[in-house]
Amino acid sequence: MQITIKDKPKKLGVLIPGLGAIGTTFIAGIELIKKGYSKPIGSLTQMGTIRLGKRTEDRTPILKDFLPLVNIEDLVIGGWDIFEDSAYDSAKNAQVLSNEHIELVKNELKAIKPMKAVFDKKYVKKLDGSHIKQAKNKFELAQMLMTDIDNFKTANDLTDVVMIWCASTEIYIEEQAVHQTLEAFEHGLKKNNPAISPSMIYAYAAIKKGIPFANGAPNLTVDIPAICELAKTNNVPIAGKDFKTGQTLMKTIIAPGLKARVLGINGWFSTNILGNRDGEVLDDPESFKTKEVSKLGVLDSILQPEKNPELYKDLYHKVRINYYPPKGDNKEGWDNIDIFGWLGYRMQIKIDFLCKDSILAAPIVLDLILFLDLAKRVGFSGIQEWLSFYFKSPMHLPSLYPEHDLFVQLAKLKNTLRYIMEEEMITHLGLDYYYDNASEAK
Ligand SMILES: NC(=O)c1ccc[n+]([C@@H]2O[C@H](COP(=O)([O-])OP(=O)(O)OC[C@H]3O[C@@H](n4cnc5c(N)ncnc54)[C@H](O)[C@@H]3O)[C@@H](O)[C@H]2O)c1
Repeated sequence: MQITIKDKPKKLGVLIPGLGAIGTTFIAGIELIKKGYSKPIGSLTQMGTIRLGKRTEDRTPILKDFLPLVNIEDLVIGGWDIFEDSAYDSAKNAQVLSNEHIELVKNELKAIKPMKAVFDKKYVKKLDGSHIKQAKNKFELAQMLMTDIDNFKTANDLTDVVMIWCASTEIYIEEQAVHQTLEAFEHGLKKNNPAISPSMIYAYAAIKKGIPFANGAPNLTVDIPAICELAKTNNVPIAGKDFKTGQTLMKTIIAPGLKARVLGINGWFSTNILGNRDGEVLDDPESFKTKEVSKLGVLDSILQPEKNPELYKDLYHKVRINYYPPKGDNKEGWDNIDIFGWLGYRMQIKIDFLCKDSILAAPIVLDLILFLDLAKRVGFSGIQEWLSFYFKSPMHLPSLYPEHDLFVQLAKLKNTLRYIMEEEMITHLGLDYYYDNASEAK
């Protein structure tokens, strides 16, 4: 198929529901990088490379030099929050970045003031805010968000916008009848159906407006047939869910390695202590349940116990998150992994990851914004599985299982980019060397 890529916009709007730890770490980071105080470390688009053609060709550009991506200088950022704090006050409150860093971009952060949020405490029990829209039903709230989007575009002279959910984890909601079709969903919006959460209202508003949407939290949000249908009809790319950072990032690095070496696993115990607002929200059992489901799926789909029962059938997987305020955003994640090898001899791996979640999440936010904008200009729509690399619980078509292995995800992402740019897929075969004439190889 011939790919046509639309020209990149002069400026790209970024709308973020939730200007908390991740949101402000991302925004401050962009401003600091623009001023030359740092490099965009952790961002595949800005610092990652891609091999093109044969190894002998020595073509390995940085992704941003290979692809027609929007430059980070051309991003215009806005957002919503349930608190009135500017991005400056919120960054200070989040305590991820040092005061020195925050002060260097004080004016830029102060200029970003959140719009009133669509919020209902029923869905995030641990939060109370006053900067909230009022309307008679959820349909009206969606219309108000669409007006916000229009106003943001006009005020900043924008043609293109991407929305990325960086707001709190909502309570666990199972897929229900109201989520099945767009018609049922829109009826549900008008009837204030309780199975429609605020994040779904943002997603609906964005996609109605033709705006790509990424979901950084484990909420159901866009992962329902009604919203997927809307995304396909409106030719909008969507991606989710739950940014792959911290402990799950480690899991998706280590588990594929153990599986590759055909080592068995009896148990994997993961526990975290963290003290930020995210930790406080997750201290509520209903929000924790949403996160737990997102984190637990990972090992099963990497290890495929049904295909390797001797190695993984009895694996006991446990995930715990403990709210512990003194830690702040400096999360500590412990993993104890019980493995076995040749003749069944048992071994253990212990990991103690002293991580800063928002530092790991911010470059993901950047990459997703730039890739979703590219996807839109390429004409991709619906679920973008090639962006699974960035998520703990990747969205997938109902007929397929999710791909969790970080290295398979990376290969898929890079091959998709080669495809978009009409470069050859890389197979790593190297047949020319084994056979004098590869074309005669059987
Ligand atoms: N920190 C990480 O690395 C990480 C990794 C994966 C996923 N996540 C998820 O990303 C989300 C954000 O994490 P964080 O650490 O920035 O949390 P945070 O609590 O610091 O920020 C979330 C912000 O969202 C706001 N908010 C809540 N509901 C809202 C709504 N309906 N509309 C607008 N704003 C709303 C809150 O007031 C808060 O300012 C959480 O759902 C978290 O589970 C975080």
